[in-house]
Amino acid sequence: MRSDPPPTTPLRRPVRSFVLRHGRMSPAQQRALDTLLPTFGLPFAPSPIDFDRLFGRRAPRVLEIGFGMGEATAAIAQARPADDFLCIEVHSPGVGSLLRRVAELGLANVRVIQHDAVEIVAAMVPPASLAGVQVFFPDPWPKKRHHKRRLLKPAFVHELALRLAADGYVHVATDWEEYAQEILAVLAAEPLLANAADGFAARPDYRPLTKFEVRGLKLGHGVRDLVFRRRSGTPAATARPAGEAAVDLARPVRLKQASE
Ligand SMILES: C[S@@+](CC[C@H](N)C(=O)[O-])C[C@H]1O[C@@H](n2cnc3c(N)ncnc32)[C@H](O)[C@@H]1O
Repeated sequence: MRSDPPPTTPLRRPVRSFVLRHGRMSPAQQRALDTLLPTFGLPFAPSPIDFDRLFGRRAPRVLEIGFGMGEATAAIAQARPADDFLCIEVHSPGVGSLLRRVAELGLANVRVIQHDAVEIVAAMVPPASLAGVQVFFPDPWPKKRHHKRRLLKPAFVHELALRLAADGYVHVATDWEEYAQEILAVLAAEPLLANAADGFAARPDYRPLTKFEVRGLKLGHGVRDLVFRRRSGTPAATARPAGEAAVDLARPVRLKQASE
Protein backbone atom coordinates (compact mmCIF):
# COMPACT_ATOMS: atom_id res chain seq x y z
CA MET A 1 0.00 0.00 0.00
CA ARG A 2 1.33 3.41 -0.89
CA SER A 3 1.50 5.93 1.95
CA ASP A 4 0.86 9.62 1.44
CA PRO A 5 3.96 11.79 1.21
CA PRO A 6 4.74 13.63 4.46
CA PRO A 7 3.11 17.06 4.66
CA THR A 8 5.51 19.71 3.48
CA THR A 9 6.10 22.78 5.59
CA PRO A 10 6.47 25.90 3.47
CA LEU A 11 10.04 27.23 3.62
CA ARG A 12 10.06 30.43 5.64
CA ARG A 13 12.44 33.11 4.44
CA PRO A 14 14.60 34.40 7.32
CA VAL A 15 13.92 37.94 8.47
CA ARG A 16 17.02 39.84 7.48
CA SER A 17 18.36 43.06 8.98
CA PHE A 18 18.85 44.60 5.54
CA VAL A 19 17.10 44.99 2.22
CA LEU A 20 19.40 44.78 -0.77
CA ARG A 21 19.11 47.95 -2.78
CA HIS A 22 20.55 48.13 -6.24
CA GLY A 23 22.40 51.32 -5.47
CA ARG A 24 24.37 52.98 -8.22
CA MET A 25 28.00 51.93 -8.29
CA SER A 26 30.54 54.55 -9.25
CA PRO A 27 33.09 53.37 -11.84
CA ALA A 28 35.80 53.52 -9.14
CA GLN A 29 33.75 51.37 -6.76
CA GLN A 30 33.04 48.86 -9.53
CA ARG A 31 36.73 48.75 -10.46
CA ALA A 32 37.67 48.20 -6.83
CA LEU A 33 35.16 45.35 -6.55
CA ASP A 34 36.47 43.72 -9.72
CA THR A 35 40.16 44.08 -9.03
CA LEU A 36 40.58 44.19 -5.24
CA LEU A 37 37.99 41.75 -3.94
CA PRO A 38 40.14 38.76 -4.96
CA THR A 39 42.99 40.13 -2.79
CA PHE A 40 41.24 41.67 0.21
CA GLY A 41 37.93 39.82 0.13
CA LEU A 42 36.93 36.32 1.02
CA PRO A 43 33.84 34.46 -0.04
CA PHE A 44 31.17 33.24 2.32
CA ALA A 45 31.78 29.58 3.09
CA PRO A 46 30.25 27.37 5.76
CA SER A 47 33.54 26.57 7.47
CA PRO A 48 35.49 28.29 10.25
CA ILE A 49 37.96 30.97 9.22
CA ASP A 50 41.62 30.36 9.97
CA PHE A 51 42.41 33.95 10.99
CA ASP A 52 46.18 33.43 11.23
CA ARG A 53 46.19 32.17 7.66
CA LEU A 54 43.83 34.84 6.42
CA PHE A 55 45.92 37.72 7.76
CA GLY A 56 49.28 35.98 7.60
CA ARG A 57 50.06 36.68 11.24
CA ARG A 58 48.81 36.29 14.82
CA ALA A 59 47.06 39.40 16.13
CA PRO A 60 43.88 40.50 17.92
CA ARG A 61 40.90 40.31 15.54
CA VAL A 62 38.01 42.73 15.39
CA LEU A 63 34.79 42.01 13.53
CA GLU A 64 32.95 44.99 12.09
CA ILE A 65 29.35 44.53 10.96
CA GLY A 66 27.71 46.89 8.47
CA PHE A 67 30.60 49.22 7.63
CA GLY A 68 28.56 51.28 5.14
CA MET A 69 31.03 53.15 2.93
CA GLY A 70 33.91 52.17 5.20
CA GLU A 71 35.24 55.62 6.14
CA ALA A 72 35.38 54.87 9.85
CA THR A 73 36.58 51.31 9.24
CA ALA A 74 39.58 52.42 7.20
CA ALA A 75 40.48 55.18 9.66
CA ILE A 76 40.36 52.80 12.62
CA ALA A 77 42.32 50.07 10.81
CA GLN A 78 44.96 52.60 9.81
CA ALA A 79 45.28 53.88 13.37
CA ARG A 80 45.47 50.37 14.83
CA PRO A 81 47.97 48.49 12.63
CA ALA A 82 48.54 45.88 15.35
CA ASP A 83 44.92 44.71 15.11
CA ASP A 84 43.24 42.85 12.23
CA PHE A 85 39.76 43.76 11.01
CA LEU A 86 37.27 41.41 9.39
CA CYS A 87 34.67 43.70 7.88
CA ILE A 88 31.19 42.72 6.74
CA GLU A 89 28.77 44.58 4.51
CA VAL A 90 26.12 43.51 2.01
CA HIS A 91 25.86 46.69 -0.01
CA SER A 92 28.09 46.57 -3.14
CA PRO A 93 28.92 50.30 -3.44
CA GLY A 94 30.08 50.25 0.20
CA VAL A 95 32.23 47.17 -0.37
CA GLY A 96 33.80 48.82 -3.42
CA SER A 97 34.36 52.00 -1.45
CA LEU A 98 36.12 50.26 1.47
CA LEU A 99 38.27 48.18 -0.90
CA ARG A 100 39.38 51.38 -2.58
CA ARG A 101 40.35 52.94 0.72
CA VAL A 102 42.19 49.78 1.78
CA ALA A 103 44.27 49.84 -1.40
CA GLU A 104 44.90 53.59 -1.33
CA LEU A 105 45.95 53.55 2.32
CA GLY A 106 47.91 50.30 1.94
CA LEU A 107 46.07 48.60 4.79
CA ALA A 108 47.29 45.04 5.28
CA ASN A 109 45.05 44.43 8.30
CA VAL A 110 41.61 44.53 6.61
CA ARG A 111 39.64 41.73 4.97
CA VAL A 112 36.13 42.10 3.60
CA ILE A 113 33.19 39.71 3.26
CA GLN A 114 30.06 40.65 1.34
CA HIS A 115 27.34 38.56 2.92
CA ASP A 116 24.78 38.54 5.74
CA ALA A 117 26.70 38.96 9.01
CA VAL A 118 24.28 36.71 10.87
CA GLU A 119 25.21 33.78 8.64
CA ILE A 120 28.91 34.63 8.68
CA VAL A 121 29.05 34.71 12.48
CA ALA A 122 27.20 31.39 12.75
CA ALA A 123 29.22 29.56 10.11
CA MET A 124 32.64 31.15 9.94
CA VAL A 125 33.72 32.82 13.19
CA PRO A 126 35.20 30.38 15.74
CA PRO A 127 34.28 30.63 19.44
CA ALA A 128 36.44 32.95 21.56
CA SER A 129 38.37 34.14 18.49
CA LEU A 130 37.65 37.88 18.60
CA ALA A 131 39.17 40.75 20.53
CA GLY A 132 36.24 42.95 19.58
CA VAL A 133 33.03 43.44 17.63
CA GLN A 134 31.97 46.83 16.36
CA VAL A 135 28.59 47.80 14.96
CA PHE A 136 28.31 51.47 14.15
CA PHE A 137 24.87 52.87 13.37
CA PRO A 138 22.99 49.64 12.70
CA ASP A 139 19.80 50.28 10.72
CA PRO A 140 17.24 51.37 13.33
CA TRP A 141 14.19 50.12 11.41
CA PRO A 142 12.05 52.80 13.04
CA LYS A 143 8.59 51.47 12.14
CA LYS A 144 7.21 49.12 14.73
CA ARG A 145 6.30 46.46 12.17
CA HIS A 146 9.94 46.45 11.07
CA HIS A 147 11.49 46.11 14.55
CA LYS A 148 11.85 42.38 13.90
CA ARG A 149 14.55 43.30 11.37
CA ARG A 150 16.80 44.93 13.94
CA LEU A 151 20.20 43.26 13.98
CA LEU A 152 20.98 43.40 17.68
CA LYS A 153 18.50 40.90 19.06
CA PRO A 154 19.23 38.69 22.12
CA ALA A 155 19.99 35.54 20.11
CA PHE A 156 22.48 37.26 17.80
CA VAL A 157 24.12 39.17 20.66
CA HIS A 158 24.62 35.83 22.41
CA GLU A 159 26.25 34.41 19.28
CA LEU A 160 28.57 37.43 19.18
CA ALA A 161 29.41 37.13 22.88
CA LEU A 162 30.37 33.48 22.40
CA ARG A 163 32.89 34.54 19.77
CA LEU A 164 34.66 37.05 22.00
CA ALA A 165 37.81 36.08 23.83
CA ALA A 166 37.97 36.97 27.52
CA ASP A 167 37.77 40.75 27.97
CA GLY A 168 36.88 41.20 24.27
CA TYR A 169 34.58 44.14 23.60
CA VAL A 170 31.31 44.82 21.83
CA HIS A 171 31.09 48.45 20.76
CA VAL A 172 27.81 49.75 19.32
CA ALA A 173 26.93 53.31 18.39
CA THR A 174 23.52 54.59 17.36
CA ASP A 175 21.72 57.87 16.94
CA TRP A 176 18.27 56.33 17.43
CA GLU A 177 17.39 56.82 21.10
CA GLU A 178 14.70 54.17 21.34
CA TYR A 179 16.95 51.58 19.64
CA ALA A 180 19.81 52.67 21.93
CA GLN A 181 17.66 51.86 24.97
CA GLU A 182 16.70 48.51 23.44
CA ILE A 183 20.33 47.62 22.67
CA LEU A 184 21.37 48.63 26.18
CA ALA A 185 18.72 46.29 27.60
CA VAL A 186 19.71 43.44 25.24
CA LEU A 187 23.44 43.74 26.00
CA ALA A 188 22.81 44.08 29.74
CA ALA A 189 20.66 40.93 29.70
CA GLU A 190 23.40 38.86 28.05
CA PRO A 191 25.08 36.90 30.88
CA LEU A 192 28.41 36.62 29.02
CA LEU A 193 28.79 40.42 28.85
CA ALA A 194 29.43 43.15 31.38
CA ASN A 195 28.91 46.85 30.79
CA ALA A 196 32.25 48.67 30.66
CA ALA A 197 30.48 51.91 31.56
CA ASP A 198 27.67 53.00 33.81
CA GLY A 199 24.85 52.84 31.24
CA PHE A 200 25.91 54.48 27.97
CA ALA A 201 29.64 54.99 27.36
CA ALA A 202 31.58 58.07 26.34
CA ARG A 203 32.53 57.81 22.64
CA PRO A 204 35.87 55.95 22.64
CA ASP A 205 38.51 58.21 21.05
CA TYR A 206 39.24 55.68 18.32
CA ARG A 207 35.75 55.94 16.81
CA PRO A 208 35.64 58.77 14.27
CA LEU A 209 32.37 60.40 13.24
CA THR A 210 30.70 58.44 10.43
CA LYS A 211 28.55 59.63 7.55
CA PHE A 212 25.37 58.35 9.17
CA GLU A 213 26.33 59.97 12.42
CA VAL A 214 26.88 63.35 10.82
CA ARG A 215 23.49 63.00 9.16
CA GLY A 216 21.91 62.11 12.52
CA LEU A 217 23.61 64.99 14.29
CA LYS A 218 22.28 67.38 11.64
CA LEU A 219 18.79 66.07 12.36
CA GLY A 220 19.38 66.87 16.02
CA HIS A 221 19.74 63.24 17.12
CA GLY A 222 21.96 62.48 20.07
CA VAL A 223 24.51 59.72 19.61
CA ARG A 224 24.88 56.87 22.08
CA ASP A 225 27.89 54.58 22.43
CA LEU A 226 27.66 51.27 24.23
CA VAL A 227 30.74 49.30 25.25
CA PHE A 228 30.41 45.89 26.87
CA ARG A 229 33.15 43.36 27.58
CA ARG A 230 33.17 39.61 27.65
CA ARG A 231 33.24 38.41 31.23
CA SER A 232 36.25 36.28 32.06
CA GLY A 233 35.90 32.90 33.66
CA THR A 234 32.92 31.91 31.54
CA PRO A 235 33.28 28.54 29.78
CA ALA A 236 34.05 29.40 26.17
CA ALA A 237 36.26 32.40 26.94
CA THR A 238 39.89 31.52 26.40
CA ALA A 239 42.82 33.65 27.35
CA ARG A 240 44.43 35.79 24.68
CA PRO A 241 47.62 34.25 23.25
CA ALA A 242 50.66 35.15 25.34
CA GLY A 243 52.05 38.56 24.49
CA GLU A 244 48.83 39.93 23.02
CA ALA A 245 47.51 42.91 24.92
CA ALA A 246 43.81 43.70 25.26
CA VAL A 247 42.70 46.06 22.52
CA ASP A 248 43.32 49.59 23.71
CA LEU A 249 40.04 51.47 23.37
CA ALA A 250 41.58 54.83 24.12
CA ARG A 251 43.78 55.43 21.11
CA PRO A 252 42.53 58.39 19.06
CA VAL A 253 41.78 58.19 15.35
CA ARG A 254 41.61 60.93 12.76
CA LEU A 255 39.16 60.32 9.94
CA LYS A 256 41.21 60.40 6.73
CA GLN A 257 39.46 60.68 3.39
CA ALA A 258 40.52 58.17 0.74
CA SER A 259 41.12 61.05 -1.66
CA GLU A 260 43.28 63.01 0.83
C1 LIG B 1 22.87 52.64 8.74
S1 LIG B 1 24.16 51.87 7.90
C2 LIG B 1 25.61 52.37 8.84
C3 LIG B 1 26.88 52.26 8.06
C4 LIG B 1 28.16 52.64 8.78
N1 LIG B 1 28.44 51.74 9.90
C5 LIG B 1 28.14 54.08 9.23
O1 LIG B 1 28.07 54.32 10.43
O2 LIG B 1 28.18 54.96 8.38
C6 LIG B 1 23.98 50.17 8.32
C7 LIG B 1 24.71 49.24 7.39
O3 LIG B 1 24.62 47.91 7.86
C8 LIG B 1 24.51 47.04 6.75
N2 LIG B 1 23.89 45.78 7.23
C9 LIG B 1 22.70 45.66 7.83
N3 LIG B 1 22.46 44.39 8.17
C10 LIG B 1 23.56 43.67 7.77
C11 LIG B 1 23.89 42.29 7.84
N4 LIG B 1 23.08 41.40 8.39
N5 LIG B 1 25.07 41.91 7.32
C12 LIG B 1 25.91 42.81 6.75
N6 LIG B 1 25.64 44.13 6.67
C13 LIG B 1 24.47 44.57 7.17
C14 LIG B 1 23.66 47.80 5.76
O4 LIG B 1 23.85 47.37 4.43
C15 LIG B 1 24.14 49.24 5.98
O5 LIG B 1 25.16 49.59 5.08
